[in-house]
Amino acid sequence: MRATIIGAADRRIQELLNACGVKTTVVPEAESAALVRAGLPSTDMFVLDVRGQARVPASLVSLNRQHPRTPIVLVASRLDPVFILEAMRAGASECLVEPLAQGDIQAAIGRVAAHMGSAISGQVFAFLGAKGGVGTTTAAVNVATELARIAPGSTLMIDLHLAYGDAAVFLGAEARFSVMDALDNTDKLDEAFFRSLVVRTKNNLDLLASSDRAMTIPVDVARINRLVDFSARHYQYSVLDIPRSEPAILDGLEAVNVIVVVANQELATVRSASRIATTLRQRYGKERVRVVVSRYDPRAEIGQDDVQRAVGGQIRHVFPSDYRVALEAMNTGRPLVLGNHNRLSASFTALARDLAGVDVSDTAAQPGGGVLDRLKGRRKA
Ligand SMILES: Nc1ncnc2c1ncn2[C@@H]1O[C@H](COP(=O)(O)OP(=O)(O)OP(=O)(O)O)[C@@H](O)[C@H]1O
Ligand SMILES: [Mg+2]
Repeated sequence: MRATIIGAADRRIQELLNACGVKTTVVPEAESAALVRAGLPSTDMFVLDVRGQARVPASLVSLNRQHPRTPIVLVASRLDPVFILEAMRAGASECLVEPLAQGDIQAAIGRVAAHMGSAISGQVFAFLGAKGGVGTTTAAVNVATELARIAPGSTLMIDLHLAYGDAAVFLGAEARFSVMDALDNTDKLDEAFFRSLVVRTKNNLDLLASSDRAMTIPVDVARINRLVDFSARHYQYSVLDIPRSEPAILDGLEAVNVIVVVANQELATVRSASRIATTLRQRYGKERVRVVVSRYDPRAEIGQDDVQRAVGGQIRHVFPSDYRVALEAMNTGRPLVLGNHNRLSASFTALARDLAGVDVSDTAAQPGGGVLDRLKGRRKA
């Protein structure tokens, strides 16, 4: 999706839109009148920054006249019913007020997209371990499960370990088809076909699982991009579990809003996290890369500050170390965010809500199956 921002007072709107995966063009206020007359380049929506203005600008009417089919989102300083009514009459489709939150922008984009008759513009979060075994899949499945509580039936987890990934085990799901089937058929992807490839978990999370077959062909970046793009257009939230063994996949994350790099407090992992975060920031921009610390121990020799310094960015989320709880959740196929609240599950919930930019109340958890049932593994097609 592309947006043209007119008269932006600062970079905040642009950053928020970019974080939602929207490509932006900025037109300064002084040039906007002439540009509107001359005809602006084609865009999916206009975002008019009118913060600090007491009246709805006259340019809104001419913009709407020139581009009657393009939605116009107004960003105002405060919620003034008279102002908003005036704006709607002048042709604005959405009115956002300060303080601007990611969730509000995302919701507005969703409504604009729905109005356009196009698909939704969902958020995509990718999880990548700085080393193997740090807890990446644990974090990804728990965040996905929490997001599925916010958007039941509109949250997808893709296990991008093309073969032998673990997400299905963590989620207690038995998938008949896999991410390989989706990648083999990217030209045929439509909603009905895609729904036949995913399995819906008891907790309303859709899973595109890893395959039980070894991979025979090299990873095709264009196909990964197409798959992730499809997912973003059909699910409000998509969560990707990215394998470290396939660096090519890291080039296929164009549609991803945030890449979460999972580190811990071991020197080798921290160094690796620093390298990975630097590369990803260069490729996708600073605001799209976040580092978190798994199995966090406040008494460890390498502290949170040391990790922050090493990776060159703030660590906003740490997951406490709790092996017993983590292992039990995995063995029962019941992500721990569904269970009794403990510090580890609360840390995953906090990350999920932070990524989504929303605050929601809890919903009831649902029961899972026994470990012996689950040892039997995948159901055959
Ligand atoms: N916060 C935690 N505290 C204690 N143990 C944890 C924590 N998070 C994950 N674990 C445990 O660590 C092990 C590895 O977890 P997980 O499979 O999520 O890691 P991974 O990084 O995805 O591994 P891989 O590189 O194999 O994909 C599991 O036994 C899991 O239960
Ligand atoms: Mg894993």
